[in-house]
Amino acid sequence: MKFNSLRGMQDIIPEESHFWQHIEENARGLLELHNYHEIRTPILEQAELFLRSIGEDTDIVEKEMYIFNDKKGRRIALRPEGTASVVRAYIQNSLFNNPSPQKFYYIGPMFRYERPQKGRFRQFHQIGVECFGITAPSVEAELIWILKQFFEKLNLKNLTYEINSLGCKKCRPLYKENLFKFLNNMIINLCNDCQRRFGKNPLRVLDCKVSGCREVLKDVPFMIDFLCNDCKAHFSAFQNELDGYGINYFINPKIVRGLDYYTGTVFEVTTTMLGAQNAIAAGGRYDELVEYFGGPSTPAAGFAIGMERLVELSKDNLSIEPKRPLVYVAYAGKGVDREVKRVISELRKEGFIVERAYEEVSLKNQLKKADKLRVEWVIIVGEEEIKRALYKWKRMREGTQGEASLEEIIKLLRVSI
Ligand code: HAM
Repeated sequence: MKFNSLRGMQDIIPEESHFWQHIEENARGLLELHNYHEIRTPILEQAELFLRSIGEDTDIVEKEMYIFNDKKGRRIALRPEGTASVVRAYIQNSLFNNPSPQKFYYIGPMFRYERPQKGRFRQFHQIGVECFGITAPSVEAELIWILKQFFEKLNLKNLTYEINSLGCKKCRPLYKENLFKFLNNMIINLCNDCQRRFGKNPLRVLDCKVSGCREVLKDVPFMIDFLCNDCKAHFSAFQNELDGYGINYFINPKIVRGLDYYTGTVFEVTTTMLGAQNAIAAGGRYDELVEYFGGPSTPAAGFAIGMERLVELSKDNLSIEPKRPLVYVAYAGKGVDREVKRVISELRKEGFIVERAYEEVSLKNQLKKADKLRVEWVIIVGEEEIKRALYKWKRMREGTQGEASLEEIIKLLRVSI
């Protein structure tokens, strides 16, 4: 019997996982410098959490959620994103009682039943960040600043920072009315998907990539021209903040995002290097979500980075090698097992990566194996060596060799790395 992983779900094998580790370590380091703290929420949640926050008429909820009934018939979902879960955890754990702002990050798998293609998977991973408690646009500007620093650290080039404002409950209804009127006159010229979206969630029509729809949308009204004074002031202050960081951005009035919880600022970081799946990070404000879920009224903003896309983009720019063993400890003769174990564990305690033979093989074969593993050092533990408390060492690449006590060998190893 032979099994394969499910469509759209991939293994991250060691040849790739060192990129992932490098990216994750960098992300943690950078986020912790900005006083963000890790939060880990369950992968399974009540489906209702996502239906209510992301929105019933969004693609994610309509078509892409992994939902099942548990043994008691409760509707459970594999999380398609992290924001709703963090909001739930923020309320459930009364984290609003802690000093504001509360700043969280998470790294983990998300699940969406999408049609898999380059850069789009059914199980994918996000590095996500959520900040609760601050209304000022300095929060979302700093979020973009964090993204910029992170991408620069990973040597990513040619990224575009696109921003927009989706208004608030005061100004959005008037905009929606205008959008509705506009689209109503054009309906027969829209693609089937857009005709469906029009009835349910007309904002999503702006997102359509079909060329016929793009033509129809040439003169579509944009939210940005309907912002109330508060939203206008916020958006303009946000841009001043970005200027203060020296970030180049452009306003893309067509960004509507695929999740309903956003209010005000939204943004996407895009690349031309990944074909159709061009967003590597996206986020924005969601000032109403905490209250909507029964928490105290709390402004919030965040983003999530798609890790698969990030790895794809950055692996050619990063010269990081998977970790290799530094030392191979070989044995020679019988009755040396105890000492071999001691030498190996002393070396590992010192932090050196050590490999060894697990089965009985000749010294010659052990040396061959060490050579294949491209280790730098071989240390041979034999009966004679044990008696004298001196071990043979070989530097494989330099071809030098000698004898030394374990303490001396440890010193030599330290100097060599
Ligand atoms: P999102 O735009 O749905 O936002 O996803 C964020 C990023 O996750 C995308 O820009 C993309 O890089 C990656 N991504 C999404 N779907 C897939 C997929 N099927 N395969 C591979 N990568 C994917 C959110 O999830 C929001 N929770 C972001 C946020 C946090 N907003 C506020 N706080």
